[in-house]
Amino acid sequence: MTTINWARCHTRPLLMIPGPTELPVPVIQALNQPPAIQYDRSFDEGVLEPTTLALRDVFQTRNEVILLPGSGRTALEAGAVSVIEPGDRALVVAAGQFGLLMREIMQRVGAELTELPVELGQPLDLDRLRTEARRLRPKAITLVHNETSTGTTYPAAEVGAIAREVDALFLLDTVSSIAGIDVRTDEWGVDLNMTGSQKCLAAPLGMALVAVSPRAWAAMERRTRGCTSLAYDLLRWKQHWIPESRGGQVKDGAPRRQPVSIPTHLTSAMQVAVRLILEEGLPHRFRRHEVAAQALRAGLGAMGLEMFPDASLLSNTVSSIKAPKDVETAAVVARMRDHYGILIGTGLDKIRTTTLRIGTMGITSSPPYVLPTLAALELALRDLGYKAESGAGVAAAQQVFADNT
Ligand SMILES: Cc1ncc(COP(=O)(O)O)c(C=O)c1O
Repeated sequence: MTTINWARCHTRPLLMIPGPTELPVPVIQALNQPPAIQYDRSFDEGVLEPTTLALRDVFQTRNEVILLPGSGRTALEAGAVSVIEPGDRALVVAAGQFGLLMREIMQRVGAELTELPVELGQPLDLDRLRTEARRLRPKAITLVHNETSTGTTYPAAEVGAIAREVDALFLLDTVSSIAGIDVRTDEWGVDLNMTGSQKCLAAPLGMALVAVSPRAWAAMERRTRGCTSLAYDLLRWKQHWIPESRGGQVKDGAPRRQPVSIPTHLTSAMQVAVRLILEEGLPHRFRRHEVAAQALRAGLGAMGLEMFPDASLLSNTVSSIKAPKDVETAAVVARMRDHYGILIGTGLDKIRTTTLRIGTMGITSSPPYVLPTLAALELALRDLGYKAESGAGVAAAQQVFADNT
């Protein structure tokens, strides 16, 4: 008898990794057009500007959202290099790989850095952070809202309040949370909200986004030395692109220059992605991510699997799961991809061989993605010698969806 490989009929695996994520069809269609000229008014005023203005609603801010070519780390680096001068004190919360990434970026821009390490998957000690912040009086405090490496969400509102108390800028990485988990840029006092396009925004990889507060603009304007980067100097957006009526330096209606050439296809795709998010509505979208993650976790639990992080921090966009004893995480990923056509991830760095990660982001936070993932995981684990009760994972997840419809 022929052995069936269920992945063979697919040209690509379904992306259940924690980003990049699956794209809605209208977003894919927006990419299929001839090149536009990025500085032409029809693109600059007809696509780029309305997209950045609509993004304000997604970021829950009244301030500017800047779109740049790049990825999440471009946004982090642009934010850091724009406000930090060599020797400025920065307090960096590092609860995983992406906290460490922020630490490295801060180091590279010359910050005098203090790290507040947090054990992987464990809560952040806010009292300790407050004490450190009061002692150091840093220019900036940085936090990764949703630590993608451990599947944890940290209390950004509370960290924002601490930053405000010590008059520090609050730099927040929302790469794996924006548009999937409630992110209140203005309410939480986020001065630079830095993210990327390819996760819960459900747009193609290739754009970096930064929401900039008036306090962050003021910090850029107060610099004693100019920013060492040209393409990533955010202040140039205020000087060359943002109109006077929005606090910028360009006369309304006057010709203006984009400080860096903006990718036209990616912006068009982002415009559609943002329209879909706002049409769905943020409360619906956040609730959808919450229920889909709950359903996934219920399914995993019914298969006898445990979550990696502390129960108080479980993320609604990235689930980090302890691998069953004697099962290799890389083998699970390979089996899922090669035989069942679904791509999930291993953990990163120290927990690479002991954890698996599944993303529920954008459209994948829904039954047609979560249920087959659980089914395929059960099959892949069975192939590798771990036997869960047949169908138990899917049944438990289905129950959560049924109870929350
Ligand atoms: C929380 C977080 N920060 C930063 C990054 C880096 O983003 P990018 O890979 O888009 O540069 C990632 C990527 O997964 C992330 O999850």
